[in-house]
Amino acid sequence: MNTKSSDWMRAYANIAFIKYWGKKDEALLLPQNNSLSLTLDAFYTDTKVEFSKDLMADELWINGQKQEAHALKKVQQILDIARELGQVTEYAKVSSYNAVPTAAGLASSASGLAALTAAVDDALGLHLSKQELSCLARRGSGSACRSIFGGFVEWQQGTDDSDSYAIPIDEANWDIGMIFVIVHDGKKDISSTEGMRRAVETSPFYNAWKSSCEKDLHEIKKAIKQRNLERVGQIAEHSALKMHSLNFSAQPPFNYWSPESIQVMNCVKDLRKAGYVAYFTMDAGPNVKIICKASEMDIIYDKLLSNYSPDQLVKALPGPGVQKVNEDQVMIIED
Ligand code: ADP
Ligand code: DP6
Repeated sequence: MNTKSSDWMRAYANIAFIKYWGKKDEALLLPQNNSLSLTLDAFYTDTKVEFSKDLMADELWINGQKQEAHALKKVQQILDIARELGQVTEYAKVSSYNAVPTAAGLASSASGLAALTAAVDDALGLHLSKQELSCLARRGSGSACRSIFGGFVEWQQGTDDSDSYAIPIDEANWDIGMIFVIVHDGKKDISSTEGMRRAVETSPFYNAWKSSCEKDLHEIKKAIKQRNLERVGQIAEHSALKMHSLNFSAQPPFNYWSPESIQVMNCVKDLRKAGYVAYFTMDAGPNVKIICKASEMDIIYDKLLSNYSPDQLVKALPGPGVQKVNEDQVMIIED
């Protein structure tokens, strides 16, 4: 047979509460610190892959559009390792649908590369363990290693290729939710990869960031165990602000904030003053995510509607790990 095809695989995006912002090994994508995230049900990627002798090059199709060669870089990291593991030489066609805006700081790379990892495993019959899948996803994009699992997940930085992977730490089946406030869904100017490189190399605060991550991680794990959302939110908001301070203090300085991001942060502070549990976090883009109680999500959503339109707001609950889906469940989105 000339073709080895996978089923459709779905992975959900994750949002970090303790941020990954810097690598100690750029080739292996080993991070400078452990990070911790929540996998969410609202944004996901469905991917299938086909290795075929009929292909003349690797191809990546996202939402029906063939991507240019530069967008294939992360994907080819995973394909090349998988080809070696499966002892095949065929090129691959990757077909993928992102139910998440691509490259807008909404973690399309995390869900995209995690779904791809599960798809190559299936196509080539590699039978990798979850831990091995997490290591392979990491080689495409660091944060993707956390999307192999659902709920709260910790990425343990490790020291080499085989011991830097994510582990599930809590199913998050308690009163926790997140509202995404989309202020822009266009592509960002500075990729995460480039932004974190600049922070590591030039921010005078980088060492302070690293040691504060260790403390934050310890504290947030304690708060998760106690199901203390207020404390979880405080630590997550502070971690995000510290990460963004590295960018403000880099040389040359840069940031992902827009005036609208700051407006959302102010709304979050007003929500707190009104007695709601609400904390913000932001990644490599201007969109803001509000950590809140699942039981208060509808009321907070309604309050946000006075400043934002429904198409700017997305409600999310904790989501599951990577899984197989039937073809008729695949969300076909054409760009
Ligand atoms: P984001 O903030 O959305 O994660 P990044 O700039 O970190 O943005 O990553 C975007 C890159 O991730 C894309 O250029 C592409 O290479 C890769 N990517 C996004 N979606 C997919 C997908 N469905 N399959 C494979 N790779 C993807
Ligand atoms: C701000 O995982 O996209 O979202 O490993 O270079 O592909 P690469 O970076 P990526 O960075 C994610 C950064 C972040 C924080 C986080 O998710 O921990």
